[in-house]
Amino acid sequence: MRNVLLRWTSVGIVILILSLAIQAVPYGRTHTNPPVRMEPFWDSPQSRALAVRACYDCHSNETVWPWYSNIAPVSWLIQNDVDEGRLKLNFSEWDRVQRKAGESGKKVREWEMPPVYYAAFHPKAWLYGDKRAALIRGLEATFSGEGKGERVAQRNPERPGP
Ligand code: HEC
Repeated sequence: MRNVLLRWTSVGIVILILSLAIQAVPYGRTHTNPPVRMEPFWDSPQSRALAVRACYDCHSNETVWPWYSNIAPVSWLIQNDVDEGRLKLNFSEWDRVQRKAGESGKKVREWEMPPVYYAAFHPKAWLYGDKRAALIRGLEATFSGEGKGERVAQRNPERPGP
């Protein structure tokens, strides 16, 4: 009995020391929000609002960094998501080519975006019913089909670029 207790106590101490040690890794703590350079010309303010709710934490320069984004190893996962997300599609940098924008509606339609593990921690980002349909419609109206080029080329009057 004593041996078992001793063993589990040492396992606990080792886990504790490791958890503290990984906090020293510098990756994942920068949490930058670079300036918003230019936004797409959304088809409606509602579409933008829904995208802010469901996509902006990873696809904009207006990420809301939660408290647990300071704690490794969760911080590493979040940093990686935001870095990759911004690289693929960034709604705050419409002054550069955003090749993936046209796929946005499809990604939501196919339940690929927002990622399920993210939505589990952000219930508000998990849209369903009318709101989900409105988001898909808004993304498609803004980024695919006719008028895409024009809309993308125009500046959003509410958020003028540099
Ligand atoms: C938790 C972070 C996160 C959220 C929230 C999120 N995405 Fe993503 N998204 C990513 C990451 C990471 C990638 C790159 C890896 C990949 O393709 O899965 C990505 C890739 C994409 C791509 C490019 C896919 C490709 O084939 O390269 C599109 C389009 C996209 N997301 C749209 C959206 C839309 C629209 C929303 C909101 C409804 C959204 N995402 C919400 C993290 C996120």
